Formats: sequence, C-alpha cells, structure tokens
Amino acid sequence: MAKTIQAIRGMNDCSPTESPLWQWVETQVREVLNSYGYSEVRMPIVESTPLFARAIGEVTDVVSKEMYTFWDNDEQLTLRPEGTAGCVRAAIEHGWIYNNEQRLWYMGPMFRHERPQKGRYRQFHQAGVEVFGIANPEIDAELIILTARLWKKLGIDQHVSLQLNSIGSLEARANYRSALVAFLEQHQALMSEEEKERLIKNPLRILDTKNQALQQVLDDAPKLLDYLDDESREHFAQLCALLDSVGIAYEINPKLVRGLDYYNKTVFEWVTSALGAQGTVCGGGRYDGLVEQLGGHAAPGVGFAMGLERLVLLVQEVNASIPVKNAVDIYLVYQGEGTALSAFQLAEKIRSALPQLGTMLHCSGGNFKKQFRRADKSGATLALVIGESEMLNNQVVVKHLQGGVEQQTLDIEKVIDYIQSQF
Ligand code: HAM
Repeated sequence: MAKTIQAIRGMNDCSPTESPLWQWVETQVREVLNSYGYSEVRMPIVESTPLFARAIGEVTDVVSKEMYTFWDNDEQLTLRPEGTAGCVRAAIEHGWIYNNEQRLWYMGPMFRHERPQKGRYRQFHQAGVEVFGIANPEIDAELIILTARLWKKLGIDQHVSLQLNSIGSLEARANYRSALVAFLEQHQALMSEEEKERLIKNPLRILDTKNQALQQVLDDAPKLLDYLDDESREHFAQLCALLDSVGIAYEINPKLVRGLDYYNKTVFEWVTSALGAQGTVCGGGRYDGLVEQLGGHAAPGVGFAMGLERLVLLVQEVNASIPVKNAVDIYLVYQGEGTALSAFQLAEKIRSALPQLGTMLHCSGGNFKKQFRRADKSGATLALVIGESEMLNNQVVVKHLQGGVEQQTLDIEKVIDYIQSQF
C-alpha cells in the first residue's frame, strides 16, 4: 500500500461528528453579532508581511517567532496570525472608515507557529470584531456586553470571567516602562535569559510571566494604573461605571497588557479555568493609533477576537444540553425494478417541501436488510420504504427507526403532511 500523508502538526481536521457543534457555535456567534447590527467582512488569509510587522510590532512573540512567512517571487507574504491588521488594511484601502463609523466582524482561520497543546494550535479559528470611528467608552462597554450575551447563549457564562485593565496612552506607557525597568533591574537574578531579553525589548510582557518567583516580586512593582494619563483614567472609570450599571462583573488586573503592540487604553480578556493552561477564550482592546500608523486618516478603533477551538472545547466541557441536530432526519430505502426513480422523485419532493429536514437517499444498492442497517446508522428518525408493490400502488411504508411507533403504509401524496407532523 502507498504511504499515507498526514495533516501538519497543530492543524486539525473537523470531523463529520464534530462539525454540528462547530456549526451551532458559529450560528450563535453570527446571531449575536447580527442582533447588534454589525456587518460581516471577509479578508484574505495571506497578506504582505510588513503589514503584520508594523501593526502587531516587531518585538512581539507573534511577529518575531510565530509567523508562517514565505517569498512569492520578490514579495514577502505571511499567513495571517490574527485579523485586526488585515481588517484595518482593508478598511483603509476601501475607505470604510473615512468620516464614517464601522462595526465589523469576521470569522476564519489564523496561523501561528506555536507549540501545539490542548487549546493551542498552529491553525486555529477566530471570530473577531473591529469597530472604527468611535472614541468614547460606550463602545468598549458594548463589545464586552455583547460577548457576555454570547457566553449566555453558549451556556458557558458561569465558567468565564472578565479581566480588565487600561494601559493608557503611548506616553503614559513610556513613563511606566521606565519605572518598571528600573524596578525589574534590581531583580535580574530571578530572571531567565528570555526574560532578561524581554527586559530590554518588551518589558511590559514580563508582567504576565509564568515564573513564580518573579510573579511574587511583581506584586510590589509599580502599577500601570498609577501612571495613566487623565484622559485614559477618565475613559477607564466611565467604562467600569457602564459595566457596573448593567451588572457585568470584572476583575481589574493591573498585570494584563496583552501580547500585541497596537493597544492603548482599554484591554480585556475573558478567561476560564476549565481548559487548563490555554484559558483565554477571548481578548481585545482599544487601538486608537493603528489606523493612522498603517497610513489611514486618524480614526479610533476597538475590537476583540475569540478562539473558536477554545469555545467549542468549553461548550463540550460544561454545557450538557447542546441542541445539536442530527444531519439525517429521513432515510429513503428502495428495492426492485423501477423503484429508484420513485425514490428519487419522492426525496426531491420532500426536500422542496421541508428543506429544514435532512433527507438522505440510500443510493448504494443491496437488499433491504443492508439498507436498514445503513438507515439505523444514519441516526434518522424515519425510514421511508419503496418496494415494487408500494411503487405500483403509489404508496410508501413509513418506519420509525427510534422505535415506539408501529410502521404504516401511506398514500404517496399524504407523506409530506405525515412527515411534517412528526418533526
Ligand atoms: P489574541 O489574544 O492574540 O488577540 O487572540 C485572540 C484569541 O484567539 C485568544 O484569546 C485565543 O482564544 C485565540 N487564540 C490565539 N492563539 C491561538 C492558538 N494558537 N490556538 C488556539 N486559539 C488561539 C488577537 O488576535 C487580536 N487580533 C484581538 C483583537 C481584535 N484586538 C482588537 N481587535
């Protein structure tokens, strides 16, 4: 036998048994976003490499070591590691934001060359939202409220909690950075080589270190919130007041800085303890400088993205009553001269009249016994049977595969009404 070829590590197939749950989760996401009046956009999966380097930041983990980059003749291209950069690029390119507000969402695969583990993959899927042109904290609050509504719909609201912080203006952050570096320099003995490098390149990322000794020391480190500029402080206070007013609980986490460089003011993450190490199901924040930084007319921006693999895992873990529908509701079996034609006609009639049901035609021959085995395996509720005598009498036998009801013979024109009464 020829040697088989396997999927790339960290890039997963979605099997026929998993896809109904994925579709259900995606439908909940779409319904919530539509109910807030947001519009879908679709961007390419590949963008030019400098877009990500400029938007996300050269010294971030994503850009410095996780991107899938390749040359296409003399142009360097990258598989998108996230959606914000491409969305901002598209918004500038098509004039979506010039003198205009936009509330947009997207869904699709992203690529990061990380070490795969539960909840962390090299190809993963995000649903993301980006809002352009609104500077005030009401929109930050709306995004958080919207996600909270989604968690309820997914049945995971008791298992996620909100972490919130403000990282202020660029200038405030620069002041804070100096204070933090001065503090951390006294504790270099506790640092790994990687952390020492971070101290020079991206010291704020040391705040979310996993190094426990350093974590303890960090409790006494200067706090970013104490360095905020007045405008950011006011913005954050208003956001907190809005969340309080609608009863959304949050924890202010002064160590939350996020791993991408474009943020200012609000940053937030929804986290769970039910998934092990990869517990962040959604992260986002404000990025008021990014549109201008990428060559557009200055416009504020704010958004978030959630990891669909993590949401699906969490739903599986904690929501025991997912209304996932079986793909097949009705299975048509037939045997005998000319019965295929009747079965095809009936199947098409059912699909026209009842398109919400899954109607499957057997197609692969064999005796009734074999066909019923397939029908049972499909998980269908009803089997419709056409043999030669049924065909000649314009009738169909209806059999309830899940038991409980006697099988019966119906005139073919009554079948649609009967099926309808059963679902
Ligand atoms: P991020 O925090 O890098 O932010 O990713 C958002 C979410 O994507 C994470 O919270 C996580 O659920 C999921 N995720 C990230 N990496 C992986 C991975 N390797 N495997 C599985 N899931 C993963 C962003 O991407 C920003 N663009 C969010 C944003 C939009 N900020 C403003 N607008």
